[in-house]
Amino acid sequence: MDEPPQTVARRTGPRGEVVLRRRTLEDGSVDELIVNGAFAMDSAETGSERALAALAWPGARVLVGGLGLGFTTEAVLAERVASVDVVELEEALVGWAYEAVTPRLGRLARDPRVRLWVADVVTVLTGTDDRPAGPSAATPPPGAGVEPNGPTGPWDAILLDVDNGPDFLIHAENAALYGTDVLRSALRRLTPGGLLAIWCQGPHAGLRARLEALSPTAREERHVVQRGRHRIAYVIYTVHAPG
Ligand SMILES: C[S@@+](CC[C@H](N)C(=O)[O-])C[C@H]1O[C@@H](n2cnc3c(N)ncnc32)[C@H](O)[C@@H]1O
Repeated sequence: MDEPPQTVARRTGPRGEVVLRRRTLEDGSVDELIVNGAFAMDSAETGSERALAALAWPGARVLVGGLGLGFTTEAVLAERVASVDVVELEEALVGWAYEAVTPRLGRLARDPRVRLWVADVVTVLTGTDDRPAGPSAATPPPGAGVEPNGPTGPWDAILLDVDNGPDFLIHAENAALYGTDVLRSALRRLTPGGLLAIWCQGPHAGLRARLEALSPTAREERHVVQRGRHRIAYVIYTVHAPG
């Protein structure tokens, strides 16, 4: 029988608990991230998180929505991008990156191309005034590449993985992210021809229709992965800003 997972780090914030757990298996270990009571992700199979990152390209300035365990951001860096603004709602996760609670998070916090922000990505994309003034409530080390006024873009690519999809939200307030107004704002934050990509746990007809209404460039791409005995078809939606 599997051993119960070990709690690596736990913090209670304004929206609930953020927990990093580790499961020890016969052939290694798996990290699990629980946010606000919702299973956000684990490290067992991260092919689709990295597929999202593979949409970036050398020299691009990228916004990643949702730090999580850092798989997407790490893979974005491997695409030889110029910079990555990572916007993460949970201060705990940004703090754990600066504390190198996992080696991957630590590497990201130390990479000079990465700026970690504690902020709501919806607020960042819409540019509303209640956006936090500072980059990170967790105190970054000197020279971490953090700017004082929040990320405003423009970006060449915006890569979003903050929920399990519009039909499985980590926070109810995130529903706005998948609505036409915020999607339109996101496209306006892109450089001409820039890319908006959204990770989803499966196809979502409503989101697809909204993206198609915004641009004829909207696409739905499935990424089939094997998780244990299950094959799961994740979906990445993409759409381009006008060129
Ligand atoms: C599924 S995880 C991201 C996984 C990540 N792609 C990776 O490879 O490790 C979702 C992350 O988005 C964050 N998040 C949820 N809502 C958010 C929001 N509105 N703004 C910014 N981050 C948010 C969660 O706290 C969590 O860290």
